[in-house]
Amino acid sequence: MLIETENLWKTYKMGIEELHALRGVTVSVAKGEYLAIMGPSGSGKSTLMNLIGCLDTPSQGSYVLNGKQVSSMNDDELARIRNREIGFVFQTFNLLARATALHNVELPLIYNGTDSKTRIEMAKHALEQVDLTDRMMHKPNELSGGQRQRVAVARALVNNPSIILADEPTGNLDSKTGDEIMGLFARLHLNGHTIIVVTHEPDIALHANRVIHIRDGMIEREVITSSATVNDI
Ligand SMILES: Nc1ncnc2c1ncn2[C@@H]1O[C@H](COP(=O)(O)OP(=O)(O)OP(=O)(O)O)[C@@H](O)[C@H]1O
Ligand SMILES: [Mg+2]
Repeated sequence: MLIETENLWKTYKMGIEELHALRGVTVSVAKGEYLAIMGPSGSGKSTLMNLIGCLDTPSQGSYVLNGKQVSSMNDDELARIRNREIGFVFQTFNLLARATALHNVELPLIYNGTDSKTRIEMAKHALEQVDLTDRMMHKPNELSGGQRQRVAVARALVNNPSIILADEPTGNLDSKTGDEIMGLFARLHLNGHTIIVVTHEPDIALHANRVIHIRDGMIEREVITSSATVNDI
């Protein structure tokens, strides 16, 4: 298994109050799977994504990523494993406004010390994968919403991470542009990437092979869907 969590709890302390955002989540994800996470607002989806993405550690429970126990890692170790294993895509794109598409995609490689020539080659290759070769020198405000999200997907891909995590990646896009991004994920999935997508929209979740429904910090049920079809591509 690529991802194995066992009885994950995340408790936020708010003064004397304790808020249990996750209450014992056990989930496994195999390499190459395409998983969707659904659930009401506040049910713990982003909290779970943050733990899976090594942005945060659980209050209790175990998380093994690619054979390594993550739950007890310190911030430096987390940053290193995150840079190597995880590509993130967010609802709000999170691009640097003053930087070109090319430079935005280079960023994860700057953090891990890749030399500049290799960096540019890798960033160009990632932009090719999302069909944005002709927009490389554009800044985010010179791109459409869908193109911005494609830059974010290229940035998530550039390190060739084992997992792509997307938290509401189509939340700020119209439905046609959203479909375009989901088509892109379907293609990445066919190329062997492991993908986990948080979404409110059942149509979007249908792209995945398996849907996990979360409620009140717990897995309520799991549904196996049919795999992505040729129409997605
Ligand atoms: N840093 C934090 N400190 C305190 N409470 C938090 C923190 N982050 C999240 N929470 C609480 O944890 C619960 C789960 O939040 P989370 O962001 O995981 O929900 P979500 O399922 O992603 O919701 P949405 O669909 O609205 O994005 C919520 O009740 C939220 O208020
Ligand atoms: Mg959320």
